[in-house]
Amino acid sequence: MTDTATIARELRRLLAKAHAPYSGVHVAAAVEGPDGAVHYGVNVENAAYPQGVCAEASAISAAVTNGGKAIARVFVTSSLPGLVWPCGGCRQKIFEFAQDGCEVVALGPEGEVGRQTIEQLLPLGFRLNRTQVHPE
Ligand code: THU
Repeated sequence: MTDTATIARELRRLLAKAHAPYSGVHVAAAVEGPDGAVHYGVNVENAAYPQGVCAEASAISAAVTNGGKAIARVFVTSSLPGLVWPCGGCRQKIFEFAQDGCEVVALGPEGEVGRQTIEQLLPLGFRLNRTQVHPE
């Protein structure tokens, strides 16, 4: 498992890579698999606003592209002061791959750290039968 400080440093560095010319809010996220593999993503906005992609969704896409099938931890930071938590849509996207008790770690610019499980952030979340969705 990569330590949180290392991931926080990398996320702060990646904020500069976000493409957010419309909101001006830069977000970076990481997802960690049960094997410890960490994949990163940033938000990518679009002039057709709804087409924009959140940082968490970018990170999940990177993980899946690299063979990731499960998420043990998620990390998110932004250019805003304080802690930012995943939006509702991203909570559902995380839930799709989350191990039970998957931790979401919010990292603030002053070193603030918040931790919630995905079940706390998305109580009673929708999920199809995993054996149908992710056949072994
Ligand atoms: N954003 C994320 O990347 N993740 C979230 O969980 C919340 C919002 C992005 C979307 C948009 O590009 C910018 O933050 C401002 O809403």
